[in-house]
Amino acid sequence: MTSNASMTDSVPDDQSHASGPGVSRRRFVAGAGVTVGAVALGVGLTACGSSEDPPRGVTPPAGSPAGTLAATADVPVGGGVIAGDVVITQPTQGSFQGFTATCTHAGCSLSGVSDGTINCPCHGSKFHLDGTVANGPASEPLKPVAVRVDGANVMKA
Ligand code: FES
Repeated sequence: MTSNASMTDSVPDDQSHASGPGVSRRRFVAGAGVTVGAVALGVGLTACGSSEDPPRGVTPPAGSPAGTLAATADVPVGGGVIAGDVVITQPTQGSFQGFTATCTHAGCSLSGVSDGTINCPCHGSKFHLDGTVANGPASEPLKPVAVRVDGANVMKA
């Protein structure tokens, strides 16, 4: 790990030899603590991600006009998708809604839409397809983003 390398690299050769094994051991133990902490943090971050959500984003269809977020066909009825920084939902056939893809609890990026809710990977908040809170700790609804349908595409309004 780089944290170990940086700690030992910063000690001049003559100082590490002159200080004796006690100092070297302390430096080693301190470096090992940083390494263990970094590994634990990495494992923790990995564990926070939800493997249940579908891939996070859709992209506009090739050749679509500027402002296109997604093809209407990419937004499932009774579900939704994340298109860049916007969550697009289609609660009922032909009715599209947009929201910022940022959780109102602590600002994490929402991870996806599954089983009828818009989900945050950080602390478990879930939002209904109309943006209202389904499950905390978030207490505020998602911020609306105006969207419109233009032909076969959902656009920012
Ligand atoms: S930031 Fe989304 S639940 Fe905490």
